[in-house]
Amino acid sequence: MAIHSPSKSYLGNGNSNGLCWRHVTVFVAALLAAASGAAGDPGKIGICHGRVGSNLPPPAAAAALLRQNGITKARLFLPDQAVLPAFAAAGIDIMVGVPNENLTFLSAAGPKGALRWLQSSVLAHAPADRVRYLAVGNEVLYNNQFYAPHLVPAMHNLHAALVALGLDGKIKVSSAHASSVLAASYPPSAGAFDATSLAVLRPMLRFLADTGAPFMVNTYPFISYVNDPVNVQLGYALFGAGEPVVSDGALVYTNLFDATVDALVAALEREGFGGVPIAVTETGWPTAGHQAATPQNAAAYNAKMVERVARGAGTPLRPGVPVEVFLFDLYDEDGKPGAEFERHFGIFRSDGSKAYDINFM
Ligand SMILES: *[C@@H]1O[C@H](CO)[C@@H](O)[C@H](O)[C@H]1NC(C)=O
Repeated sequence: MAIHSPSKSYLGNGNSNGLCWRHVTVFVAALLAAASGAAGDPGKIGICHGRVGSNLPPPAAAAALLRQNGITKARLFLPDQAVLPAFAAAGIDIMVGVPNENLTFLSAAGPKGALRWLQSSVLAHAPADRVRYLAVGNEVLYNNQFYAPHLVPAMHNLHAALVALGLDGKIKVSSAHASSVLAASYPPSAGAFDATSLAVLRPMLRFLADTGAPFMVNTYPFISYVNDPVNVQLGYALFGAGEPVVSDGALVYTNLFDATVDALVAALEREGFGGVPIAVTETGWPTAGHQAATPQNAAAYNAKMVERVARGAGTPLRPGVPVEVFLFDLYDEDGKPGAEFERHFGIFRSDGSKAYDINFM
């Protein structure tokens, strides 16, 4: 799960700037964000709980740790039958991942099959009022093209199942993307989706707009820095630049996170869906496995994210629109494949102590 996007270079080369609808869409996005408040509260930070590890604490301990730290929102990458009830019992609002491996079934099974799956896999293990989102597939367009044709039909079927249960207003259906879903992101106003993904993305955007669900993206300024340290300054990735690094028309950017979110806003506007809100479903900074992966840098990045979410910070392009954020990751996951740093995103150690000084309250 959650294999991280190498976040194709943030240096794209788009050139048009069709943002005349900016103010209208900011307003619409703000309304939608308010209206969809039933799904997620953007003013509270969430934490992802991946479980690809050999030394993970039991679900009840993970749930208690979240509560002790004032965290009441979490993302799970699959409907784990042990984790769902433990988190629900602790009063934690849950984003439930629908595994890529289930998309073929969910697309073919129709609304009735999706309803059976939803009931037996999710709602049998957590009451509906603790489930806030279904994140259907993770980074399918980045590393699981096999499932791409099944993605939007599965989303429609799950939504129809929620309608049948009267839960569609409360549980929002979306899909988490890697930030490589953007083919162009520099400057942010040039943001554009990867053309090869548009056949899936366009009907998905229509679905998100029609159902009031956010566009979900996983984004790691750390990985952008690692992939291109010549062009991505560490301070820009870490919220530490303190001065404008990128100028884009009248807007200035001091950090890569804002620039990435706004490139996504520009891409949404380009497709005519500027009113769709954005939720960042993974972001974080590792503590080991690379020279920039230190507890100090992880503390700086994540503390800044906590502070931004708490004050409802928007971005230069959407100043009034808070971005919902899920930090990655509750614990290190020693079973994750890939580069060494992939196994060191944990904010907490398995004994419940903090991997670095950070305060969520
Ligand atoms: C869903 O995927 C899991 C593996 O992640 C598999 O065990 C299960 O059989 C699948 N269920 C359906 C209905 O596709």
